[in-house]
Amino acid sequence: MRFLDCDGRTVEVSADVAGRVFTPVTASETRPKGIGHVVLNTPDIQVAREFYETVMGFRVTDWVEDVMCFLRTGPVHHTIAFTRAPHTSLNHVAFEVRGLDEFMRATGALMRSGIAPVWGPGRHGVGQNTFSYFQEPSSGFVLEYTTAAQVIDEEHGWTPKVYPANAQTTDVWGTANARDELVSATLIGRPDPGTWTPPPV
Ligand SMILES: [Fe+2]
Repeated sequence: MRFLDCDGRTVEVSADVAGRVFTPVTASETRPKGIGHVVLNTPDIQVAREFYETVMGFRVTDWVEDVMCFLRTGPVHHTIAFTRAPHTSLNHVAFEVRGLDEFMRATGALMRSGIAPVWGPGRHGVGQNTFSYFQEPSSGFVLEYTTAAQVIDEEHGWTPKVYPANAQTTDVWGTANARDELVSATLIGRPDPGTWTPPPV
């Protein structure tokens, strides 16, 4: 089933999909296990939060001020997040690798091939996941290698927190380059040409 979300994105929901047997990812292998999370840019973060909470059943885990909202449907800290932006677009897709060693090997493999990280490697304070962001050269889309995201203890309750937008929040290890205007502009990207806009009345 496909429908349009509050920003005109096409959302597809599927169920009862026949599962494929995948080769397990083994130690030291840099192949991603899957998609860990997706971050979307939105012009109205509160509208996006409300839509994905009420229509899709996500729950808010944490905030960074009023500029970033992290949401989950299960125990992992976030599977989707929204960033306040001037337009609707993809911020990045995060590929999850098996662990810290695999994360650094994957990051190093891209660096050795001549692709410098846009931002990272480092570890976020919100969600606790590691990050290395790279820009795909032809499309401009940003991908992230990540691992070791925080697991929420639902049994004992969870109250969303609001973190300040500072270096401790974004890069707890202090290993990443500064999150400067170039990093922000790369992640904000260009307006998504695929979104639906109502025709003029
Ligand atoms: Fe991410």
